[in-house]
Amino acid sequence: MSNNTLTITDNRTGQTYEVPINDETIKAIDLRQVRVQADDFGLMTYDPGFTNTASCKSRITYIDGDKGILEYRGYPIEQLAEQSSFLEVAYLLIFGVLPTVDQLAHWEQRIMRHTYIHENLTDLLKTFRYDAHPMGILVSAIAAMSTLHPEAKQVHDSEVRLKQIYRILGKLPTVAAFAYRHRIGRPYNYPDSTLGYAGNFLYMLDFMGQSNYQVNPVLAHALDVLFILHADHEQNCSTSAMRGIASSEADPYSSMAGAAAALYGPLHGGANEAVLRMLREIGSVANIPGFIERVKKREVRLMGFGHRVYKNYDPRARIIKKIAYEVFEVTQKNPLLDIAIELERIALEDDYFISRKLYPNVDFYSGIIYQAMGFPEDMFPVLFALGRAPGWLAQWVEMVDDPDQKISRPRQIYLGERGRDYVAMERR
Ligand code: SDX
Repeated sequence: MSNNTLTITDNRTGQTYEVPINDETIKAIDLRQVRVQADDFGLMTYDPGFTNTASCKSRITYIDGDKGILEYRGYPIEQLAEQSSFLEVAYLLIFGVLPTVDQLAHWEQRIMRHTYIHENLTDLLKTFRYDAHPMGILVSAIAAMSTLHPEAKQVHDSEVRLKQIYRILGKLPTVAAFAYRHRIGRPYNYPDSTLGYAGNFLYMLDFMGQSNYQVNPVLAHALDVLFILHADHEQNCSTSAMRGIASSEADPYSSMAGAAAALYGPLHGGANEAVLRMLREIGSVANIPGFIERVKKREVRLMGFGHRVYKNYDPRARIIKKIAYEVFEVTQKNPLLDIAIELERIALEDDYFISRKLYPNVDFYSGIIYQAMGFPEDMFPVLFALGRAPGWLAQWVEMVDDPDQKISRPRQIYLGERGRDYVAMERR
């Protein structure tokens, strides 16, 4: 008997089965042989939310939730945040290696040549109500891009895929900026590709015709690092949505619209917006104990805390906390920061949170920075999506090229009625 197997005894029949163990996992399909009657369907696993189910093999992002480790293609997030740039990290995630000087220059040049969006899309953005949530606009715009680039359906053509990757990375900031300008009733600033990625984004958001306008380098750098920190996070909810939709060979725009929609939820990328609302609801340090009591009674959740994988401090939250102070040097300090820091201090000493291994996650401090930079709260998940775009794309490419992968179609445990006869209306 090889030691890389699991022996299963079915006590219903006394039968034993040997199931191979590879990469610390067993294949769920290997359980189907466990049955009572020969014509039974066989055993399945039941795992709502996929808390203990691997959906794929990946070489993109590594997380150790207990140790608080996050690596993109093996490079620690702390080093990338400190030494890399967002577009370089995007290249790393998608191609698996750090680019040479020439490769990075070509990559940046190709992306920055795709910052303009089709005027049909510009017109579409103008049809939304002035107070439409920018995430609703972003999800719609990404889906609409599939109508402008029908060749994107050729998902197995690597050249066609690469062109869509340039387009998405180049155009998403423009869509986001136009959604913001639409929100505040100001004319759109068309992209200036001579500025850096984050600098061009800030320019499109803020330029109001000033003759002496300059992008603030501290804010541009802070945004670039925030995008790096959000760039990928293995099989999170929105990435799983991207993979699931793309498993039907849907084009990358339609798949990413679904991923962005998943990110919008307050339990996922919408949490940064929810954190700000929570801190403002708490209002002062004095109100924190009362709020904590409400959390313990399960009346509210401590937004920005907790994580499915991290059972230690989210390494991204630690880096973001440092960036906050750099940003506040330039902007006025956000008074909500004091509430956040005190809330974190109290929570980290309280057994309710300690016993549940609830620590600040990436969303706890990011919103405070975005607000200090002048972003309205409903733009926060949009900023998360801009950062996550290269991760979604890298995971998409890996999934399409993975020979193990097939269309995503889970099973179910059926508990409903069976074999009922239709009842005519007069007899109901
Ligand atoms: C992101 O997956 C990713 O990688 C996501 C992400 C990424 O980069 O893609 O990291 C980004 O989405 C970060 C998470 C942002 N969401 C929030 O901050 C929302 C608040 N946090 C949660 O709702 C929750 O912690 C989740 C959704 C993040 C994780 O939920 P799980 O793993 O399904 O855990 P759970 O809901 O089963 O909770 C386990 C226990 C429960 O208590 P008991 O019922 O066992 O007594 O912990 C409690 C929960 O009530 N709990 C919380 C809590 N989070 C979990 N209690 C209070 N406040 C919280 N925030």
